[in-house]
Amino acid sequence: MDMRPEPFEPPAPIPRNRILSRLQVIRTVLRNPLELWGRPSYTLPWIETKFFSERNLIVNDPRLIRHILVENSSNYRMAEVRQLILRPILRDGLLTAEGPVWKRSRKAMAPVFTPRHAKGFAGKMLAKSEEYVKKYADIGVAGRVEDMSADMAEITFGILSETLFSGDVVTTSDNFSDDVEALLHRMGRVDPMDMLRAPPWVPRLRRIGGAKVMKQFRDVVRQTMEKRRARMKADRANTPDDFLTLLLELDGPDGLTLDEIEDNILTFIGAGHETTARALAWTLYCVSCSPDFRDVMEREIDEVLALGVEPVEWLDRMPHVRAAFEEGMRLYPPAPSLNREAIKSDRWTSPAGETVSISAGMTILIMPWTLHRHELYWEKPRAFMPERFLPENRDKIDRFQYLPFGAGPRVCIGATFAMQEAVIALAVLMSRYRIDALPGSKPWPVQRLTTQPRDGLPMRVTPRRRQS
Ligand code: HEM
Repeated sequence: MDMRPEPFEPPAPIPRNRILSRLQVIRTVLRNPLELWGRPSYTLPWIETKFFSERNLIVNDPRLIRHILVENSSNYRMAEVRQLILRPILRDGLLTAEGPVWKRSRKAMAPVFTPRHAKGFAGKMLAKSEEYVKKYADIGVAGRVEDMSADMAEITFGILSETLFSGDVVTTSDNFSDDVEALLHRMGRVDPMDMLRAPPWVPRLRRIGGAKVMKQFRDVVRQTMEKRRARMKADRANTPDDFLTLLLELDGPDGLTLDEIEDNILTFIGAGHETTARALAWTLYCVSCSPDFRDVMEREIDEVLALGVEPVEWLDRMPHVRAAFEEGMRLYPPAPSLNREAIKSDRWTSPAGETVSISAGMTILIMPWTLHRHELYWEKPRAFMPERFLPENRDKIDRFQYLPFGAGPRVCIGATFAMQEAVIALAVLMSRYRIDALPGSKPWPVQRLTTQPRDGLPMRVTPRRRQS
C-alpha cells in the first residue's frame, strides 16, 4: 500500500458545469477570466465557442498547438484584444510588435539574450536576492509577511533594474518601483470597450489617468538612455555591460531605432519582473504546503551552498528547486492565456483523421491555465507534484503540453534569464528562512496582467539553521 500522504491541491476555481448568460460572461471576464472556463475546457482537446458573433477556438491538443505556434505560425497574428490592451503601452516593443518590425527586432535582440549573457547576470541576481532577504532579519517574532507576492516583486524588480540599468535610472521619484507598479496596474486591465472591440481612440474608463503616468515613465526611460549614451561615448570600457548598453549598441539601420529601444526597455520592465515574481510567490506557497518536498529542497540547497558552487551553476545543480518552480508555473502560469487570430483559413487533421477547420479572423485561445490542468494530459492535474519535472520524468511531458513561456518563434526571449533568477532567489530565501503558509489561508488566483493572488499572499517567515 502507498503510505505517502496525498499531494497538496492548492486553491483554484472548480471547472463550471453551468452555461453562463452573456452578461455573466462579461462580468466574469472583468472580474476574473480564470473563473470562466467550464468542464469541457479541461477535458476536451479543442472546443469551438461563440462570444457575441465572434467565433473562438479553445485549443488544448498539444499537436494542434504545435501546428498553430510552430508549423503554420505565419498564419497567426497576436489577437486583437491583447493588442488593444498592450500596444498603447509597449508600442513596437518585442511583445507587441508584428510583421517586419518584430522580425528585425527579434533578430537584433537574440544576441542580448544568449545563455552567456544570462549567466553573466548570475552574480547580480545573487547580490540583489541577498540584499533583499536581509530585511527579514528584523521581521519580529511573529515573522508575518503581509504579501509574499509583493515581496517577490521587490526582489525581481531589484534584479531587473540592476541587470537593465545597473542602478543608473534618472528619476526624480523616490521609488521607481512604485511608478512601475502604478503603470502596470492602470494600463494592463481589460476594459469593457476592449471586449466590445471598440477602436483604440474610444476612452477606456478602467485605464483613465494611465496616460499621464505613462508619459512620466517614458520621460524617465528616455533620460536614462541619453545619460547612458553619453557615458558610452565618453568611456565605453568602463560602462556596464547591462541590458541598456547592449540595447543601445543595437542602434542602427539593421538593428533598432531609438524609439524601438525605448519601447523594448518598457517591454522588459512590463514582461520581465511581475511574471517571475508571481511564479515565485505561488511556488513558495505550494512548497510550504508540501513539507516532505520542502525538506528535500532545503537539503539540496544546503549541500550545493556548502560546496561553494557558483550561482551560475545553481540552475543545473538544484533539480528539486527547479522542479518546484516549474510545477508552480504549471499550476499558476504567470501568462495564463496566449491568444492568436487566424489571418487566412486553415485546416488541421489529427493522426486519427479528425479535422479542425479554422476560418480567417477566428480567435484562437491557447491557454496554459486549462492546458496545464487538463485531464487528458496530466495525472492528478490539480495536485502540486514537482517530481513530474525531475530530470528522470521530464521526457514524459510533451513540449506542447507545458507552455509557461509559450513556444515557436514568439517564445519568451527571457526564459533562461527568468529560470536562473528564480532558482537563485528561491535558494537564497530558503537557505536562510523557512516560509510557511498561514493556517487556513486560501489565496485565490485571479487573472490580471499575470496570474496573481487576489488579496495578496500573507505568509510566515522564520530563520532556519542549515543542514551541512
Ligand atoms: C517566469 C517568468 C516569465 C514568464 C512566465 C514569461 C512568459 C512569456 C510568454 C508566455 C511569452 C509568449 C507570449 C505569446 O506567445 O503570446 C513571453 C514573451 C516574451 N517575454 Fe516573457 N516571461 C517571463 C519572463 C520574461 C523576462 C525576464 C523577460 C525579459 C527580461 C521577458 C520578455 C519577454 C518578451 C520580450 C517577450 C516577447 C517575445 C516575442 O514576441 O518575440 N519575459 N513571455
